[in-house]
Amino acid sequence: MDTPILEMRGANVFYGASQILFGVNLAVQRGQTMALLGRNGAGKSTTFKAIAGIAPPRGGQVLLSGHPVSGQAPYLVARAGIGYVPEDRQVFPEHTVDDNLIVAAKRGPRGDRHWTTERIYEVFPILAGMRNRMAGRLSGGEQQMLTIARTLMGNPDILLLDEPSEGLAPIVVRAIGDLIRQLRDMGVTILIAEQNMHFCLGIATHATVIDKGQVVYSATIDELRGNDAIMQRYLAV
Ligand SMILES: Nc1ncnc2c1ncn2[C@@H]1O[C@H](COP(=O)(O)OP(=O)(O)O)[C@@H](O)[C@H]1O
Ligand SMILES: [Mg+2]
Repeated sequence: MDTPILEMRGANVFYGASQILFGVNLAVQRGQTMALLGRNGAGKSTTFKAIAGIAPPRGGQVLLSGHPVSGQAPYLVARAGIGYVPEDRQVFPEHTVDDNLIVAAKRGPRGDRHWTTERIYEVFPILAGMRNRMAGRLSGGEQQMLTIARTLMGNPDILLLDEPSEGLAPIVVRAIGDLIRQLRDMGVTILIAEQNMHFCLGIATHATVIDKGQVVYSATIDELRGNDAIMQRYLAV
């Protein structure tokens, strides 16, 4: 196996005195789309916050292409190549779509600038038609697309999406799913947290299941699909 793009080893995370993650191990290889699945409260968002440097693990390590990033400030973790899209999908509401993208433009960790506004508008044609609109006027689904697009503008090595389908109408969920699949097919490495396993079945290549702050299963998405016991026990199906 190659060195994973992202690896978490034995991460213990606490909020105050209460432990939320217990020795979480996770590895994402280049080009994979890994689904981090688990019920509400399982620890998905906490895992993402631990990776992004917002809730640093008290034990264990986070490695990016083999280099430790745990203990670094969130902006340094971002600069090292982690593109984190939190679940609250914040945009700059009083600025245009274009400006929301331009402020986030930055070369990747090795100086690459694959993602430009032109390329974003090719992949996100809906945003192209709204480039001069105030971001606060976009629908929830459009704002979700904009936060994904804005994160790509930083040319990350891996994209972390925290529940991108949450709270969106089914038709919008489908559009977000198509978009993530397109990014996957372009070779973008993605880690996506979801309670909605069905959303991930046609998108993810691999799956890791978390329950009560512990990883309970990790395999390809096809293996998960064939494992009724795991799906019944840990996922709302
Ligand atoms: N800021 C916080 N302070 C204390 N407990 C928290 C905080 N955020 C989340 N938790 C708790 O941590 C656990 C995991 O939450 P979270 O990582 O958000 O789960 P998920 O994203 O899988 O729904 C839950 O029991 C939740 O109540
Ligand atoms: Mg969450």
